[in-house]
Amino acid sequence: MAKKVMDGAKGLFLLVSLLSSMFACVLCSRGSILRLETFRQPDKEPTVVKGLDLERYVGRWYEIASTPSFFQPENGTDTRATYALNKNGTVDVLNESWINGKRNFIKGFAYKDDPRSDEAKFEMKFYVPLAFSIFPAVGYYWVLYLDADYQYSIVGEPGRHYLFILSRKSHVDDETYKQLVQKAVDEGYDVSNLLKIPQSDTPPQ
Ligand SMILES: *[C@@H]1O[C@H](CO)[C@@H](O)[C@H](O)[C@H]1NC(C)=O
Ligand SMILES: *[C@@H]1O[C@H](CO)[C@@H](O)[C@H](O)[C@H]1NC(C)=O
Ligand SMILES: *[C@@H]1O[C@H](CO)[C@@H](O)[C@H](O)[C@H]1NC(C)=O
Repeated sequence: MAKKVMDGAKGLFLLVSLLSSMFACVLCSRGSILRLETFRQPDKEPTVVKGLDLERYVGRWYEIASTPSFFQPENGTDTRATYALNKNGTVDVLNESWINGKRNFIKGFAYKDDPRSDEAKFEMKFYVPLAFSIFPAVGYYWVLYLDADYQYSIVGEPGRHYLFILSRKSHVDDETYKQLVQKAVDEGYDVSNLLKIPQSDTPPQ
């Protein structure tokens, strides 16, 4: 029965994401695109930054802390994201992480959910290697907080499961970190599974 609904690879994807994230996630297939989504309450969605200036936002961000996610190696260090603005308004995304000195990366792109809205709600599309094949997967990227200088960013999604605390510098002082975590808590996030990502004093090239 299940086999009729999804082919083997999609089933594996669902299984792996369920096991790795320990929460119920809804995975819908739109054409051949996998959509990774956590349960959302449309009436209680987190507030999102308005009027984000993409030109200022792109560039490199270090992942200071995040909740474990299916895509990212759990024991990765120096995890970072590098964004570049394309002429057509889409954003190239390169996520990198190092395990035992070995670079892991995944590439994708992001685009505005609704180009007419001034809310910083993006979707990210990645090509995920899985079961000897490559699948396009789409996830949300909602900017929940951004300081005036574009030095710190909190990224989440409507279901409030995935959370990323990003910084332009690879290290954040304890006081600032506490404040950022508090902002996520204020947005209704459970931060008990938030993990600090080890960042080297000298980030990899
Ligand atoms: C890439 O990193 C961003 C945060 O920097 C995160 O929102 C996104 O889910 C990551 N995607 C993958 C496929 O690792
Ligand atoms: C990191 O995790 C991967 C799989 O999650 C595992 O194969 C590897 O042995 C781990 N490495 C370390 C140093 O723990
Ligand atoms: C936007 O530009 C990028 C880089 O030139 C390209 O890879 C992508 O396919 C373009 N997307 C659209 C929707 O035109």
